Amino acid sequence: MAGRMKGKRALITGAGGGIGRAAALAFAREGAAVAVADIRHDAAQAAAEEIERSGGRALALCGDVADEASCAEMVQAAERGFGGLDTLFNNAGVVLPGDNDATDTPLDVWQRTLAVDLTSVFLCCKFGIPALLRAGGGAIVNNASMVALVGSGFPQIAYTAAKGGVVAMTRELAIVYGRRGIRVNAICPGPVRTPMTDAFFDTEEKWVSRRRYMPLGRLGSPEEVAAVALFLASDEASYVTGAAYTVDGGITAAYVIDDRIGT
Ligand SMILES: NC(=O)c1ccc[n+]([C@@H]2O[C@H](COP(=O)([O-])OP(=O)(O)OC[C@H]3O[C@@H](n4cnc5c(N)ncnc54)[C@H](O)[C@@H]3O)[C@@H](O)[C@H]2O)c1
Repeated sequence: MAGRMKGKRALITGAGGGIGRAAALAFAREGAAVAVADIRHDAAQAAAEEIERSGGRALALCGDVADEASCAEMVQAAERGFGGLDTLFNNAGVVLPGDNDATDTPLDVWQRTLAVDLTSVFLCCKFGIPALLRAGGGAIVNNASMVALVGSGFPQIAYTAAKGGVVAMTRELAIVYGRRGIRVNAICPGPVRTPMTDAFFDTEEKWVSRRRYMPLGRLGSPEEVAAVALFLASDEASYVTGAAYTVDGGITAAYVIDDRIGT
């Protein structure tokens, strides 16, 4: 154990796969006890078992972050299981089929996306912040997206609105709870290699056209995003709050990229 999260007790939502799973493994490797929460019980269980096999401490929790009672139960189970909770990574999120532009996105797609991607952060904070205060303070990291900061020509109106809300909520929470010992930050990832993005970049042509807008010329990995969440959750970031950290290979820094760069 390297120890950057030694003594911390963390709850990570959506930790059964992708970025959340990578974060759960990284937090645990650095010494945190990790409550691995996911709507897919088997996935949460598998991640928790992997942590324990490596000598870490984990608790598998099953719940829906869009459901108020479920969020209350997940926080309570983590706090009870570890004797306190000081770290919350609100990571769970979805992009739903049918999320398109404002004129053709069905209302139920809009509502479920807002529930899973935005209301979830409110609910986990509603129950998580009192737990963090009981522990004497702590850190919250919210997973937003680069679409919260810059517009996308691939419309996903509900996802974009939800992620914008996550960044706005992060700032307000940071201000309200800063003097009570809780830091609150957001991360804004760019495209990260997951099964979802593999399906999206399924032809060489699509890949070449998107790569043009990527200064680093490649997708990120879940581990690269988890590393930034880990930094923000750790005491190394003790003077960082209210920030929206881009983890996007430079995409939001770019205005125009000359096709000849790096070729
Ligand atoms: N992958 C990307 O390119 C990318 C880019 C920017 C932001 N993000 C954000 O990062 C976060 C994680 O994305 P990912 O790519 O790892 O996705 P993923 O689909 O690989 O993992 C998401 C996890 O959340 C779980 N989940 C889904 N709905 C849930 C619910 N209602 N309650 C509890 N758990 C639920 C899933 O079962 C899954 O294990 C999301 O908030 C996403 O919006 C991802």
